[in-house]
Amino acid sequence: MKTLTSHKQVIWFDDTLIDESTVKHAFEPEFWHAQNKVLGSAQGRGTTWFVQTDNLPAALRHYHRGGLFGKLVKDHYWFSQWHQTRSCEEFQLLQHLVKAGVNVPQPIAARAVKRTVCYQADILTQKIEGAEDLVGILQKHSLQREIYVLIGEQIRQLHQANVNHTDLNIHNILLDKHNKVWIIDFDKCHIEPELGETNLAVWQKSNLDRLLRSFQKELTKRHIHWAEQDWAALEMGYHK
Ligand SMILES: Nc1ncnc2c1ncn2[C@@H]1O[C@H](COP(=O)(O)OP(=O)(O)O)[C@@H](O)[C@H]1O
Ligand SMILES: [Mg+2]
Repeated sequence: MKTLTSHKQVIWFDDTLIDESTVKHAFEPEFWHAQNKVLGSAQGRGTTWFVQTDNLPAALRHYHRGGLFGKLVKDHYWFSQWHQTRSCEEFQLLQHLVKAGVNVPQPIAARAVKRTVCYQADILTQKIEGAEDLVGILQKHSLQREIYVLIGEQIRQLHQANVNHTDLNIHNILLDKHNKVWIIDFDKCHIEPELGETNLAVWQKSNLDRLLRSFQKELTKRHIHWAEQDWAALEMGYHK
């Protein structure tokens, strides 16, 4: 990881994926628009821009708050240290997960910009090509139990890397054309201390509970093609 520092901004980047002259501009969507290198966008808490870098297609995300507080303070976070900014933490967590062999986007670059006592943040990651999130897929059709087993396996690998995904829901799980399962959106997630327990730790159980609630919620809200028995297949993959 390389670092570019000025008095009010720090950029962390992988120089094998992006060069220094590009990374300076890479967090401005206008930079990509001006060169006709915007591939598309996705709507979450904010807009994720998909852009074509020289080396790979990428996803550019500005950090936004969710919830009621987010309506007031949309994208400003309290600053304490550069290394404790949302973007720097997610960049490092993604590097840890890539190394551990979990299917997550490769981090390309991250930035934090100081605004008086607060900061704003952005991250650029590998775009998962031809992937769609589980909500989108399940609105169209159901998935075979083998796919649920694969999803369970991927969550187990995530947990074996000691990563607590505090927002594990079906918007943050993607499936590509080869049925490869990808986990995204590691804002505010963290590495848990190694306890060497054989039983499920509280945090692992709570990730799984949250995911189950997400399936149940979308069953009511968007009528997704999903049934409780699909959860059993996912659990099988998790415990295998
Ligand atoms: N690396 C990526 N590759 C492909 N699609 C992505 C990627 N990152 C985000 N997306 C898309 O953008 C949406 C929002 O991104 P996400 O990281 O979940 O942020 P948030 O939920 O905070 O808005 C996702 O649901 C997904 O559809
Ligand atoms: Mg998300």
